[in-house]
Amino acid sequence: MGVNNGSTLLEEEKKLEASTDRSHYRQLAHYFCLLCFLLTIIILLQTLCLVQLTLVSQSQSALQENKLRGLRIGLEKLNQSYQLLFSQYPALNQYCPISNATTGERECSLCLPGWTPQGQKCFLFSQDRADWISSQYHCMALGGVMAIIRTEEEQEFLWEKTQSLSQGDSYWVGLRSSGADGGWQWSDGSLLEKGPQFWARDPDNAGESSVDLCGRLTPRVVYSRSWFTFRCSNKLRTICERRQASLT
Ligand SMILES: *[C@@H]1O[C@H](CO)[C@@H](O)[C@H](O)[C@H]1NC(C)=O
Ligand SMILES: *[C@@H]1O[C@H](CO)[C@@H](O)[C@H](O)[C@H]1NC(C)=O
Repeated sequence: MGVNNGSTLLEEEKKLEASTDRSHYRQLAHYFCLLCFLLTIIILLQTLCLVQLTLVSQSQSALQENKLRGLRIGLEKLNQSYQLLFSQYPALNQYCPISNATTGERECSLCLPGWTPQGQKCFLFSQDRADWISSQYHCMALGGVMAIIRTEEEQEFLWEKTQSLSQGDSYWVGLRSSGADGGWQWSDGSLLEKGPQFWARDPDNAGESSVDLCGRLTPRVVYSRSWFTFRCSNKLRTICERRQASLT
């Protein structure tokens, strides 16, 4: 009986053990489920976050695209106005030449390329030597006349410029003896006596000689006394002038 009893006790014990094991397993399974659940939630949350981020960045890029489109349209309109301006006023191409062939950038000046601005005028200092008349034609072909010096400021400017350009070489200016009366006039027909004069000495009286006399500017002497008379048939460099560009 005792043995019998003992074996039943043992069995009871085993049963009990089995039942505690089972409850352990159940607990473990429970925790595992909980873990899985948490993991699922975390993954869900992450996905949600990602979706939201994508949506936000999409809406931002859509906004940027819109802005870019607006800018492109603005640029196109500007470009059209620009093309129209240059096709309707071809002279702009001369006064605003392309300064950078890569970018098409332009640089504008009130004077054409090669001409130097001074006051309301542009001056050109030619390298070629020619007689006075040919020089005048040369200036006229360039849309100007030979330099007319109306003020001390202009005289000083031209004298300085010729000095730096020619190492003392003389230049024709638009001065010519008007003939028998011994008067002098500028290339536009105006009389010299009405403005300032910068002769080195009293000009030769052309009326007494049989040669045509014209005026040259020589930078070797002081600017206020740098005009000399010279036979018009001599060959010199020359100074041309033009009005500065204006829309009026
Ligand atoms: C401006 O228009 C011209 C001709 O229509 C074109 O060749 C050029 O590429 C355009 N430039 C820009 C910046 O759109
Ligand atoms: C033209 O423009 C480009 C771009 O800005 C620059 O790198 C280049 O040096 C310019 N070239 C000249 C001749 O100015």
